[in-house]
Amino acid sequence: MLTLERLRADHAPALLAFEAENRKYFARTVPDRGDAYFEAAGFAARHQALLAEQDAGICHFHLVLDDEGRIVGRVNLMDVEDGCAELGYRVGERAAGKGVATAAVGQVCRMAATAYGLTSLVAKTTLDNLASRTVLERNAFTAVEDITIDGRPGIRYRRSQAPLPDDTA
Ligand SMILES: CC(C)(COP(=O)(O)OP(=O)(O)OC[C@H]1O[C@@H](n2cnc3c(N)ncnc32)[C@H](O)[C@@H]1OP(=O)(O)O)[C@@H](O)C(=O)NCCC(=O)NCCS
Repeated sequence: MLTLERLRADHAPALLAFEAENRKYFARTVPDRGDAYFEAAGFAARHQALLAEQDAGICHFHLVLDDEGRIVGRVNLMDVEDGCAELGYRVGERAAGKGVATAAVGQVCRMAATAYGLTSLVAKTTLDNLASRTVLERNAFTAVEDITIDGRPGIRYRRSQAPLPDDTA
């Protein structure tokens, strides 16, 4: 079973370990975060900055934990404005291909409507990121625009907060 936890200060060490463990894996599909991100002092400062944004209601960050409490992914809502936020997510290599991203994104979509009062979500991914596109499309995101992401062809998606089939749960 998966649990989503809202990002806290004490998550920092485990989150850094998760990002470091999966650095090469993530870099195959999304831009690498750069060496500075993985230095302890810089990571701690950045973590504090993220929490400040969260406290201000600009972002909602979540860790995805497995049934043993280990971080298997992240699902974030960023740049909240006028009832809309941008969705971002990543799932580590050890948990890949097991439906974690699909389930966690579904959960965050429900939280966006209920806990956070958002009326729409946007997301973007590169055309060749088939796993990411599958996750979005399974969670009722619709492709709305062809875009360019870091020089590569991409797609912008949108989801209005209509209920998913199991939203009654
Ligand atoms: C994209 C990502 C979040 C998917 O996480 P995940 O937990 O493995 O995804 P899920 O298991 O929920 O579902 C992905 C679906 O895409 C499929 N898939 C995975 N890799 C694929 C590939 N290379 N080509 C086609 N389909 C693929 C999976 O098999 C699964 O479908 P299935 O249930 O029919 O088997 C993860 O790979 C990741 O974090 N990648 C790096 C960061 C990233 O790309 N983030 C998204 C940026 S917008």
